[in-house]
Amino acid sequence: MRTKIVAGNWKMNMNFSETKDLINALSAQSQTSDAKVMIAPTYTNLPSAVEALENSSIEVIAQNMHFAENGAYTGEISASMLKSIDISTVILGHSERRAYFNETDADLAKKVSQALANEMAVVFCFGEELEDRKSSQEEAVVKSQLKNALFHLEADDFKHIVLAYEPVWAIGTGETASPEQAQDMHAFIRKTIASKYGDEVADSVSILYGGSVKPGNAQEIFSKPDVDGGLIGGASLKADDFFTIVNAI
Ligand code: PGA
Repeated sequence: MRTKIVAGNWKMNMNFSETKDLINALSAQSQTSDAKVMIAPTYTNLPSAVEALENSSIEVIAQNMHFAENGAYTGEISASMLKSIDISTVILGHSERRAYFNETDADLAKKVSQALANEMAVVFCFGEELEDRKSSQEEAVVKSQLKNALFHLEADDFKHIVLAYEPVWAIGTGETASPEQAQDMHAFIRKTIASKYGDEVADSVSILYGGSVKPGNAQEIFSKPDVDGGLIGGASLKADDFFTIVNAI
């Protein structure tokens, strides 16, 4: 049985008091699905979020980290800093990090290794751009992202990896991959993992879909056999919407 996950990526939204309010609103929601729920507030609000959700099943996770253990990297945050405030999961490879901060697959390979070395789990994001899909290159692009950023890992490492397929053309655009497009790509991703690591690893890795998941489309996307949950941006900023998505699993 694969773990079902719904993770909210708050991106650069919510100041200190807004974070508090949203966490209170989330805590008041009732969960009727068995999905594991994660939220990723911005760095400055992580300690207060961890404290507020100490006795909750909602896990607080980070949006990014640096690949070095420590050192002269002004403005950056390390895995051990996150660990020291009880953060054990980090999102890596989000398309906004790739597009606006020039993160490459080679950087991400180092970040993934660094996270695992610090006993952190990783939600690894990847996905093709619109031009790739228009030119039928989406599978080749996704395969090369997986190969270049993750295929240095051992099979056992995949116990700590969650994959998040996020077609760039669907992020924050209101345009969603159809449930069939999501299923086709998730099946391809699982096949790609199986070809390198075998069926056992491929069958047990959770693959989330991300890109304009909303209360109105979540259930149909999540009903697909290879879709194990979602990484939610915009709709994770409203407690009601987020929990409607959580309970759609
Ligand atoms: P969105 O963002 O739900 O706002 O499209 C998804 C993401 O960036 O993870």
